Amino acid sequence: MTVSALIVAAGKGERLGGDVPKQYRPIGGKPVLRWAVEAMAGHRSIDHVRVVVGAGQEAIAKTLLEGLPIGELIRGGAERSDSVLNGLRAIAEGTVLVHDAARPFCPPAVIDRLLTALKDSDGAVPVLPVADTLAFGDGTLDAPVDRKGLLRVQTPQAFHVEDLIYAYEEAGRAAATDESTVMLAAGLKVTTVEGDPMLEKLTTQADWNRAESIIASRMVPRTGMGFDVHGFAGEGPIMLGGIAVPHSRGLAGHSDADVVLHAITDALLGAAGLGDIGEHFPPSDPQWKGASSDLFLSRAAALISERNGTIDHVDCTIVAQEPKVGPHRSAIRERIAAILGLRINQVSIKATTTEGLGFTGRREGIAAQAVASIRMMPNA
Ligand code: CTP
Ligand code: MG
Repeated sequence: MTVSALIVAAGKGERLGGDVPKQYRPIGGKPVLRWAVEAMAGHRSIDHVRVVVGAGQEAIAKTLLEGLPIGELIRGGAERSDSVLNGLRAIAEGTVLVHDAARPFCPPAVIDRLLTALKDSDGAVPVLPVADTLAFGDGTLDAPVDRKGLLRVQTPQAFHVEDLIYAYEEAGRAAATDESTVMLAAGLKVTTVEGDPMLEKLTTQADWNRAESIIASRMVPRTGMGFDVHGFAGEGPIMLGGIAVPHSRGLAGHSDADVVLHAITDALLGAAGLGDIGEHFPPSDPQWKGASSDLFLSRAAALISERNGTIDHVDCTIVAQEPKVGPHRSAIRERIAAILGLRINQVSIKATTTEGLGFTGRREGIAAQAVASIRMMPNA
């Protein structure tokens, strides 16, 4: 029997607010919807994943889901139940796991439990107990509710597609806060399995903040180092940390010879385990001739962000007898922070001479050494 996951993502996310609906916003560096789709597409028992999006959301959804096997997007409706029904009709048969895009982190074990339970039932849903006291009230507390036996019902919810379509036709959509209520209203049997706190729906800002910190706590710190040298040649100014610093002599290089940006780029690539600057931007490739090095740095940052990493800090020491770096330090920090999308206090620039010793001491060139601290998911 074919198992499909149906992810409904056609909501407006009004309770959370923001410029775009919550399912398209990044959490832990990855769009909520992409997390949800990856969790389903990566499960060995799931054959197909289909996604329901609202009118006008196709373009953003396609971009954010690039590379994932989701087939054609399905058009959603005004209510969640309309969106689910459109999806069910498109899938038509087999087993379906109906899932909210707003629950991005689905543990594979929950899916295993649901599919096992469905063998002996018309439906299976993940549930958690209610821990808080429940009561009616509006400003002041009214009658308490006996919470004994009460459950919180999550998604994904597993059914046979034909049963669920039948239940919707039988019970109508008015009964639907989710599919389990529709199944019950149509007199069908729904079994419960253990849910998971990771399946908590992102509804309010407090939910979002909690999810952000869970994701952040799973990331591990990584460090990378970078080193670069360019020799003086020709006339200044020189590019140093993304800004033009006036100097009598220039620096020789295939690109703009910005030692600071090159060292930081290599430190970031190193932290992410992604090779070095020469591998990504070979000097033999004419397109990088005279290139502005902020391209290299922003590409390194993009590679980290594509892997859902976060840059915490970069630190660079410029080794030069001349020119003096001090007067330009703030401008350099600001420029690097702007390229990397960091705050200025996440960028450190230091400088030293070598007391007249060595090639920098002899004023033959400038060296830079950098360290980058990032965080990534353990398997990234
Ligand atoms: N959903 C849907 N079609 C709708 C309404 C909701 O596909 N017409 C989806 C949402 O995108 C979400 C899930 O159903 O993944 C659960 O809904 P909810 O958390 O209520 O999301 P929103 O409706 O987007 O949020 P809000 O109610 O705050 O506007
Ligand atoms: Mg809603």
